[in-house]
Amino acid sequence: MSADGKGGQAGGDITPLRIGVAGLGTVGAGLVKLLRANESIVADRAGRPIVVTAVAARDRTRDRGIDLAGLTWHDDALALAHDPDIDVVVELIGGAEGIARRLVTAALQAGRPVVTANKALVAIHGAELAALAERAGVPLTFEAAVAGGIPAIKAVREGLAADRLVRVGGILNGTCNYIMTAMRESGRAFADVLAEAQALGYAEADPSTDVDGIDAAHKLAILAGLAFGRPVAFSSVHVEGIRAIDALDLTFARELGYRIKLLGLARRREDGIEARVHPCLVPERAPIAQVDGVFNAVVAEGAFVGRLMLEGRGAGEGPTATAVAADLIDIARGNAVPVWGRSTDGLTQVEALPRTAFNEEYYLRLNVHDRPGVIADVTAVLRDYGVSLRSMLQHGRAASDDPTVADAPSVPLVLVTHRTRESAMIEALARIAALPAVIGDPAMIRIEAG
Ligand SMILES: NC(=O)c1ccc[n+]([C@@H]2O[C@H](COP(=O)([O-])OP(=O)(O)OC[C@H]3O[C@@H](n4cnc5c(N)ncnc54)[C@H](OP(=O)(O)O)[C@@H]3O)[C@@H](O)[C@H]2O)c1
Repeated sequence: MSADGKGGQAGGDITPLRIGVAGLGTVGAGLVKLLRANESIVADRAGRPIVVTAVAARDRTRDRGIDLAGLTWHDDALALAHDPDIDVVVELIGGAEGIARRLVTAALQAGRPVVTANKALVAIHGAELAALAERAGVPLTFEAAVAGGIPAIKAVREGLAADRLVRVGGILNGTCNYIMTAMRESGRAFADVLAEAQALGYAEADPSTDVDGIDAAHKLAILAGLAFGRPVAFSSVHVEGIRAIDALDLTFARELGYRIKLLGLARRREDGIEARVHPCLVPERAPIAQVDGVFNAVVAEGAFVGRLMLEGRGAGEGPTATAVAADLIDIARGNAVPVWGRSTDGLTQVEALPRTAFNEEYYLRLNVHDRPGVIADVTAVLRDYGVSLRSMLQHGRAASDDPTVADAPSVPLVLVTHRTRESAMIEALARIAALPAVIGDPAMIRIEAG
């Protein structure tokens, strides 16, 4: 086995695998701690020691809870791409552009294996980076980029390699799952629970990447690429976050026998690939509905394997460092798998299908004036677009007998449809929103089997 991790079995070779770590934050410092604490376990499994020899971060004086004595410190992370004393570059800085992208590109161009936890980078530039890695004949691995401690990438790309997967996805953002669980359990509003999550360190000061669904979409795009054997264009993933979820929706969902989860879902269809992230109603008895708090879940489904679900911690220093170290063990052993599970030769990115092609069951919540004829008006619009109703809920006082009452109080009206094309729902909702009895924008949440 060569020291560069390019292949071959370890055999009797006990040359350590020397790694350079760029970024010593949650994941980087966690990795250094894990490699030190589990030194002999890792060496046993890797067939040789894995040692950190060089590091890079911004602030040399910051206390990271790890001893950096004896390690080469690079002020410029890019220097790791050419440091002669390292065999593998581990990129744990983050961001789809900037230094992270430059470092990974330079390392691959220099023929260095790369391990990264950077989902944004892989989701957006994975196709081009995979081609670079393949050209250089070196591994590019990113187990930690999807669902932290859950070995999702290995499961989908290797464990299920023989099956034709039709569906992959899951609960891919712990912050959103924490917020929605707390909203459901306490009945509190989104903004309230978000503020609490920020105070507890479960949400960033700027939470938009998480609560607007972007982080989950990065992970979904990667999972979809692995499941379907070709990268999915990130810009084509349909993304909705959780800001618009009202505590009322969680209450109605419960009454209807559902929970609301932010799911990432990619599906193989005859006419293309669906890739989408949005809140979903899932039956409360479905395994995924039981995954609460900061936990993540990855689901996959294939004709031979059936449906499976893996659950675990999707973030945090321990789970994420475990995933990064697993990649390093593979490299130390020379276990190399093509980035997207097959050669990138002739592989082009695939665009996901547009939202108008979705075909789902829908939950609708309208805020309507409580007066006669409103339900008839709403259902007439749905009928015009061929949307049939499965059930309906209305609470509040009995409808007034006097249709002339202009200031009739508002009540929520909840409708659940049978499966229908989203293009029809979009048009029907625009007309429903314009009805005089409907106040504000209707809420629409898709329903998934789980
Ligand atoms: N946190 C998680 O649970 C988790 C889970 C899965 C994947 N990830 C991914 O792992 C990566 C790292 O995340 P993290 O949470 O560890 O981030 P973090 O705690 O913010 O750490 C980022 C590190 O990068 C360093 N850095 C920033 N700019 C730099 C530059 N220009 N040159 C050199 N170093 C620079 C910082 O240095 P200073 O410390 O000196 O400021 C810091 O050590 C990201 O891609 C993230 O998406 C994180």
